Amino acid sequence: MSNNWMMRRSVFLATYGCQMNERDSEEVLGMLIAQGYKIAEQPEEADVILLNTCSVRQHAEERAFGKMGELSALKQERPELVLGIIGCMAELQQEAIFKRLPRVDLVAGPAELYDLPYLLAEIQEKRQRNIGVQGSGFRVLGQTGQPTAKVMAVGRPFRPLDQRPVGDYRRPGVTAFVTIMEGCDKACAYCIVPKTRGQEISRPAEDILQEINALAGAGYRQVTLLGQNVNSYGKRFPDGGGYKGPLGRLRLLEEDPDTLLDFPQLLRLIDRRTAIPRLRFTTSHPFDATERLFRAMAECASVCESLHLPVQSGSDRILRAMRRGYTARAYLEKIESLRRLVPGIGLSTDIIVGFPGETEEDFQATVRLMQEIRYDNAYVFKYSPRPGTDAAAREDDVPQPVKEERNQRLLARQEAASQERHRALEGARVEILVEERGRFDGQWFGRTRANHGVIVASPEDLLGQTVQAQVTRGTAHTLFGELAARCNGSSR
Ligand code: 5AD
Ligand code: SF4
Repeated sequence: MSNNWMMRRSVFLATYGCQMNERDSEEVLGMLIAQGYKIAEQPEEADVILLNTCSVRQHAEERAFGKMGELSALKQERPELVLGIIGCMAELQQEAIFKRLPRVDLVAGPAELYDLPYLLAEIQEKRQRNIGVQGSGFRVLGQTGQPTAKVMAVGRPFRPLDQRPVGDYRRPGVTAFVTIMEGCDKACAYCIVPKTRGQEISRPAEDILQEINALAGAGYRQVTLLGQNVNSYGKRFPDGGGYKGPLGRLRLLEEDPDTLLDFPQLLRLIDRRTAIPRLRFTTSHPFDATERLFRAMAECASVCESLHLPVQSGSDRILRAMRRGYTARAYLEKIESLRRLVPGIGLSTDIIVGFPGETEEDFQATVRLMQEIRYDNAYVFKYSPRPGTDAAAREDDVPQPVKEERNQRLLARQEAASQERHRALEGARVEILVEERGRFDGQWFGRTRANHGVIVASPEDLLGQTVQAQVTRGTAHTLFGELAARCNGSSR
C-alpha cells in the first residue's frame, strides 16, 4: 500500500480520564506523526478523530459517548472521515460501541495502542478494496454502510511495553510524565481498571533511565513516573524477569535487595543516574507502600516530599468489602512512619463515598480519619457501579442524594483543612519550580516540593526556574507569594 494517503492525513485526539491516558495520548500522537500525520487542532479539520477514553465511572463513559455522538455528524458531509474510540472504554464496551455509535470505525483497547498506525492503515486498505474480511489477527466486523470497514482490536492481556514504537510527542514544557508500568493485578471490588488495562507489566529500567535522561537534556525539570500501582514496579517484566517468580510466587526482596529491581530501587537508580531535578510518582496503593519506599524517598534528593496515597474509606468494614487489603489503623501507621522518615511530606488521597452498604457510621469513620491525617488535598468520588466488577453484583443501596450530601460534607471539610494548611504557610519562604504561566500577564504558577501550588508575580520570564517565594496569602486552593530569590535553576 502506498504511503501517500497517510502523508496527507491529520489527526485530532481528545483525552478523558487519568494522567496515564494523557501520557498514552502523547505516545499515540508521536506514533502517528512518525507515520506522516499532522495534528489537527479542531475536529472539523481532521481526517482521523480519536477519543482516548476512561471507564472509571459511568459519567466518564457518558461524556465520551456524547462527544462521539456529536462528532459523528461530521461524517454526513465527509464520509471518508475515520472515527475511533480508544483506551479503557474501548476495552470495556467493545462491540457495544459500534451498536451505540454506528459511525465509529475503530475500537482499540489500552493494550493495543501501539498497533494504531496499522489499525488505521487497515481501515484505509479495506475501504480502498471495499471488503470486510478478517485481517492481521484482529477481529474485523463486516460492512454496514458507506464507506465502511470496521476494526476492533481488544483483549490483549497486557501492552508490550518493551516494543514502544518510534516517535514521541510532548508539548514543550517544564514537567513530563513517564510511564513505568501498565495494568493492575489488584482486585478492588469497585474498580474496572484490572479489566480495562489488563495485567501488570513493568517497563525495563534502562528504557526508563534513557527516556528521563533525554527529557532532562531537553530542558524538562520534573518527571512524574506513572503507573496504576507504581509501588509494585518490577513484579513482571516483558522478558519474563521480575520479582514475581515463574510460579507466580513473590521472591523475597529483603533477602536479596540488590539483585531484584523494585520501585524503591528504581527511584534510587533514577536519582543516581539521571539529572532530572524533581521526581514525583503516582499512583501508590497503600498495601505496597512500605518503609522501604519511605526510606528511598527520604534518601533521594530528587524525589519530592509528596505522596498521593488513596485511602478510599476510613471504615474497616467498607475497606474489607472493597478488598483493599489494609485497615484504617494500618494505613494510619504507614502515614506516621512516612511523616517520621520524610518530614514536611505533602499528602493527598482519593475517597469513595456511597460504596454499597456504607452507613452513616462508616462515613463518620472516614470523616475521623481525614480529621486525624489532615491531608493537603483530597479527591472525593461518588460510587459508580461498573459492569463486571464484584461490587456491581451488590445492590447500589446508598441513595444518590445521600452520596451527594456525603460528597459535599467531605469536600467542605477538606476545603477547611486545605485553607488551614495554606494559612499556616503565610509568611514562610518556600522553594517553587515554576511550571507554567499564570492566568494573567506577569503571573507565574509553581509548586513546592510538597506539591502546594503558588502564584507569584514577576515581569521576568520565570518558566522552568526554581525560585524562592515568600508566601503572602493562602486561600483553600492556592498560595500567593512574592519572588524572593533564584536558586541557580536547580532544586538539587
Ligand atoms: N466509583 C467511584 N469512584 C471510583 N474510583 C475508582 N473506581 C470507582 C468507582 N467505581 C475512584 C477511586 C480511585 C480513583 C481514580 O477513582 O477513588 O482511586
Ligand atoms: Fe480511567 Fe482508570 Fe482507565 Fe485511567 S486507568 S483511563 S482512570 S479507567
